[in-house]
Amino acid sequence: MTGLFAFDDATCQTLTEAHGTPCFAYSGAVAEAQFQALRAVLPQRVRLAYAVKANPHPELLARFAALGASFDCASSGELERVEALGLPRGRTFFAGPGKRTLELQQALAMGVRIQAESWEDLARIDDLVSSEGLADREVTVNLRVHPAFDITEGNRIIGGSGPSAFGVDEEDVPNLLRRAKALRHVRIRGLHVFAASNQRDAAKLLAIHSAVLELAKRLWEAHGLGFEQIDLGGGLGVAYAPEETPLDLAVFGQGLSDLLDRHPWYAHELILEPGRFLAGPCGVYLARVVRVKESRGTRFAILEGGINHLIRPLLTRQPFPVKAVGKGPGDTPYTLAGPLCTSLDRLGEVALPELAAGDLLAFGTTGAYGLNEGMTHFLSHPVPPEVWIP
Ligand SMILES: Cc1ncc(COP(=O)(O)O)c(C=O)c1O
Repeated sequence: MTGLFAFDDATCQTLTEAHGTPCFAYSGAVAEAQFQALRAVLPQRVRLAYAVKANPHPELLARFAALGASFDCASSGELERVEALGLPRGRTFFAGPGKRTLELQQALAMGVRIQAESWEDLARIDDLVSSEGLADREVTVNLRVHPAFDITEGNRIIGGSGPSAFGVDEEDVPNLLRRAKALRHVRIRGLHVFAASNQRDAAKLLAIHSAVLELAKRLWEAHGLGFEQIDLGGGLGVAYAPEETPLDLAVFGQGLSDLLDRHPWYAHELILEPGRFLAGPCGVYLARVVRVKESRGTRFAILEGGINHLIRPLLTRQPFPVKAVGKGPGDTPYTLAGPLCTSLDRLGEVALPELAAGDLLAFGTTGAYGLNEGMTHFLSHPVPPEVWIP
């Protein structure tokens, strides 16, 4: 487990001397420590599948693969990145509300476990297998359900328990299962529910996971669905500010173990798909102040990069933790602006020491939903390097 910044000030300076600014740097050691800390508290029957969307850097994927991770993909590009790792079959999942036929074909060819999110997914998989002329081929899938119970989100990512593009609404599942009986090649043998995001409260995460197991039990009892996998999705939170308490891993791990004990009818595996938790803490984004400006009572620090590199603060209204490298803490209020021609280009309102042109800022916990979520093409600034420090 680590603090908000994967690299100390001296390392940040050295990195910028070698690679210039702006740049991202990822610490393999921190990513590994994060993975191991979570793995250590989980019951054996819980599998960890890293959500590639959080950060698809090839070295990061290779590091997690070496630690035994499985992978959750949601596009053909992510499938390709995982395929390049040369893993044995059975370590990759494929989710997403809008899977194209080509992507389903690719997933089938790779032997990937598909999280079917709709009747269309099921029917198209069935058709694809039929068209291969493999009359006896059976494809095992998981069914992603959008639950009727509450979804707890630290930041609005999944969109709550109202209407959703994701999964099959829980109330529509019986009808879908009736239709699925006609499928010749597809068997539903798993359940997928992703109902939390950036949640640091272990009790809240466990309450959701408990509700998912109850749902699985009802589906088993009512429809005889014999699940061999129950996928609980991602959503494990990380701290983005010193006052935020990290997720209590010991409580979380013990809670999952107790949950399995309370469900002796289910003897198979649980899957967790954390992205943010595994990748967030390993990343730092380094950018210099281009100039400082006072405008009608607001002090701006205008930086080399903005929402083209880090869009999360705009989407969630929560800044990444930031420090002025080599200057210590301070209490001067700054609005951090990027170089783009839009007043949306803000990285937060923060307290820092007095800044001047050329000062180096380091943004912590930017290993997940950082550069890969940014608007890198907007204004055609060069894409910053991503430096891997093993
Ligand atoms: C299907 C699926 N699994 C896992 C994740 C990872 O979520 P997190 O980074 O919150 O752990 C996501 C994120 O959107 C997702 O869509």
